[in-house]
Order: sequence, then structure tokens, then C-alpha cells
Amino acid sequence: MPKRAIEREFGVPIAGEILEPEQWSQTALKKLPADGLLNADALFARNAPLVLDIGCGNGRFLLGSAVWRREHDHIGIDLLPVVIRYATRRGNQRGLTNLRFAVCDGLRFLQSYAEPHRYTEIHCYHPQPFYDPGQIHRRLITPEFLVLVCRALAPGGSFFVQTDNPGYWRYIRAVVPVFFDFEERAEPWPDSPKGRTRREIIALRRGLPVFRGSGTVKAGLSEPKALQLAQTLPPPVFDADRRLRELDDVEASE
Ligand SMILES: C[S@@+](CC[C@H](N)C(=O)[O-])C[C@H]1O[C@@H](n2cnc3c(N)ncnc32)[C@H](O)[C@@H]1O
Repeated sequence: MPKRAIEREFGVPIAGEILEPEQWSQTALKKLPADGLLNADALFARNAPLVLDIGCGNGRFLLGSAVWRREHDHIGIDLLPVVIRYATRRGNQRGLTNLRFAVCDGLRFLQSYAEPHRYTEIHCYHPQPFYDPGQIHRRLITPEFLVLVCRALAPGGSFFVQTDNPGYWRYIRAVVPVFFDFEERAEPWPDSPKGRTRREIIALRRGLPVFRGSGTVKAGLSEPKALQLAQTLPPPVFDADRRLRELDDVEASE
């Protein structure tokens, strides 16, 4: 019998098993197109429902989704090369062919590479709150970002977002329902009762509330109309509560 290995993070298994090296795949997407859109059909050599995770961190959510939903293709992006290295190593070791990870800014990906009306699901778990006033402009969820999410989603496609930052959530629940029929969800997602992502697991272990929701683009919302609405909405300026940053620092040493 070949040796199979289950990996855990904070005691919670990461989906899939580490295979023998001859069964490993290549999940790093090292180059995005120099100009033009990323053609997902060509990338995966098939036409399948497509899932995007923006700010995917170590890839835990997508690894699970790719293992459990072989009929879906998956793309994970994050700004930080080191987390993409962790994600790709795990994807490779599991032999996944329906998953790619790339280093890229989330807004830039949606602006430059995401094919319009192609993505079945777009996920954004625990976007960084950026506590310093000088960093506020880096917050990912903005009206402009949401317009681009609407453009990238396939008809009937869903946007998923969650955070453990109450200030960020107040902002999200004020702006997201302008574009989406949005439903909040108190309980963890049924596929991952201990948390879909590394950050969710950490938050749950610390007893922090986790705010979640998902939705589909409002019926009849055209791109010009979405752009017009975006101009009436505030930027993500909120008190991110520095006490939560101290928790992040403690977690980093665990
Ligand atoms: C708090 S972590 C959450 C990671 C993961 N989604 C989770 O829930 O465990 C936020 C992640 O977003 C990434 N990030 C921050 N700004 C980004 C941006 N503009 N585009 C893409 N990723 C970004 C960070 O590098 C980090 O990995």
C-alpha cells in the first residue's frame, strides 16, 4: 500500500492526501498573460464551473473545494509570494489538476485578467483590515472592487465574503447589498464546521465572532448602473479596532 499522509493545521485536517511524488501536479501559475484576459478554458483544458479566491492565503479553502468538487476549476490569488508557495506545494502534493495559484493583486486580477461573466463563485475570506491610517487605501473591499466582482461573475454566480473584524463587516453589509441579493450567515459553512480558512479557524478558536455572507448579483443590474451606484458609496473608511491587530501578532508566533 502506498504511504498516504493527512496534514493538519491547528488540529484541523487539510483536505486531500499527500501523494507519492510521481503523482504530483503543477498548480503554480507563474505567468499571467502579458496583455489580455486569462483564458480559463485553455488553462484547464476544459470548460468547467470556475471558482476564484481573492486573498487566498495558504489556500486551505480552495484545496478543500478542489478535492471535494473535481468538476469545478479553481484559481487562487494572493499578493504575498510566501503564502502562494505554501498553497501551491499543497496543491501539487495532492495531484490536483483543477487548481492554480498565482501571485497577484486582487483588484488588478479583476481589472486585467478576469474574463467577464465567467466565474461561478468568487470568494474573499478575511480581507486584511489594514489598521494604520496610512494603509487604509489598501483595503480590498471597495465599491470599485464590487463592480468588478459583478462583472466577473457568471449569470447566477455567487460572491462569498467573511471577516472577523466588526468594523469591516459594518462596511461590507452597508455596501455589498447595493449590488447583491445578500444573505448573512451566522453558522460556519456546512462543508467546514471548524472553519473554511486558516484565519477562520484561528478566529473560532479564539472565540471571535465571524461574520459571513453570500449573494448573487441583483437582477437587472447592468455594469453602467453598477458603476453609477458605486460613485454614490463611501470608501472603506472605518475603525478597524487595533486590539484585533494585537491578536494577529500573537497568532503569527503560533
Ligand atoms: C488575513 S489574510 C486571510 C487569508 C485567507 N483568506 C484566510 O482567510 O485565511 C489576508 C490575505 O489577503 C492578502 N492580501 C492583502 N491584500 C491583497 C490584495 N490587494 N490582493 C490580493 N491579496 C491580498 C494577504 O497577503 C493575506 O494573505
